[in-house]
Amino acid sequence: MASALKAQDPEVFDIVQAETRRQAEGLELIASENFVSEAVLEAMGSPLTNKYAEGLPGKRYYGGCEEVDRAERLAQERAKRLFGCDHVNVQPHSGSQANMAAYLALMKPGDRMLSLSLAQGGHLTHGSPVNFSGKLFDIHHYGLDPETERIDYQKARELAREVKPAVIVVGASAYPRLIDFARFREIADEVGAKIVCDIAHIAGLVATGLHPSPVPLCEIVTTTTHKTLRGPRAGMAMCQAAYQKPLDSQIFPGIQGGPLEHVIAAKAVAFGEALLPGFKSYQERVLLSARALAERLAHHGFRLVSGGTDNHLMLVDLRPKKLTGKLAEAALGKAGITVNKNMIPFDPEKPMVTSGIRLGTPALCTRGMGPRELSFVADLIAKALAAPEDESALARVKGEARELAMQFPLYPARA
Ligand SMILES: Cc1ncc(COP(=O)(O)O)c(C=O)c1O
Repeated sequence: MASALKAQDPEVFDIVQAETRRQAEGLELIASENFVSEAVLEAMGSPLTNKYAEGLPGKRYYGGCEEVDRAERLAQERAKRLFGCDHVNVQPHSGSQANMAAYLALMKPGDRMLSLSLAQGGHLTHGSPVNFSGKLFDIHHYGLDPETERIDYQKARELAREVKPAVIVVGASAYPRLIDFARFREIADEVGAKIVCDIAHIAGLVATGLHPSPVPLCEIVTTTTHKTLRGPRAGMAMCQAAYQKPLDSQIFPGIQGGPLEHVIAAKAVAFGEALLPGFKSYQERVLLSARALAERLAHHGFRLVSGGTDNHLMLVDLRPKKLTGKLAEAALGKAGITVNKNMIPFDPEKPMVTSGIRLGTPALCTRGMGPRELSFVADLIAKALAAPEDESALARVKGEARELAMQFPLYPARA
């Protein structure tokens, strides 16, 4: 197909081409990223972007919404089938906005909130002082047990009894273990708190039954749609029937205007994909591959936070290798392997340096890779980090990384 973008704006076209090539030729290990299907891309790049549709399907503030209503209803129905929730709002533009709406549906500014801190694996929107959440609410943090590096449920319970939070936030951005939602429900019930559970990272695992679901247990469950769920970059919020009104009204008119109907149509497409049996086998491969990557890294002498992983991601403590996350991220980048530096629990380094890196398998598994390839990726990582400042060694690893990547083509029609 002739490219309108190329003809009209070769500068932007070049950027899109170069980024597409970068994604195709490198090994993507960022745990929060994935590769959407061509069908999802097509829905996102459709004329639905032109439509204003403030309100909800059947109750809009604009005319001409018949077709986008159908897209949004499809997204809602499919999300409900995937997660078994009473109600869903598919309009949040992002995970952060889903969280903001969820908090405002259950709390007033100044109310107490209990969550996992960013430094121990939580997300910025779980109460970081530089985020709206930390500015609006009175934040208290539960944490990890320094020995096991797993959530210390007993301490969380003690803290909840002391603080009496209005809301307990459950969920994480960098936690490699299963989360015991039932335990948090007990704690919340004991102190009369509500739960906002943020499953942004593990949504694909929850949808396929490979991680216990918080949906029946929590007042509100939020997620992004672009991580393990493999949809467009956006958010979504689910709730028990009693919270439908406050949740919907906090999303619009509370914090958003017109919904992005092209993105909502793309969510419908992605949820349709996630309902197919192949999505569960993909998620199973994500888990097996994460285990293979972790085991092979341990074989190379890397220390894994908490000793391994139960989900799609892992945190690697680089201190035994006398490396920082910053240095490792840069070296691996030169070797064609994309990762992010990440704080490890009780990290002595600053957030821009860190002692760790976070690795995840969802993106590479979407390309068709599995445990065998991820074990080889661990060998490449070990090779690159053995000589992180040796440009020619890193260039050699880059060649090997590219060779592996090219065996699993990405967006071949765009190459
Ligand atoms: C647990 C968690 N919640 C929320 C978000 C925020 O999502 P977004 O980047 O779409 O605002 C993230 C993103 O990394 C996340 O990991």
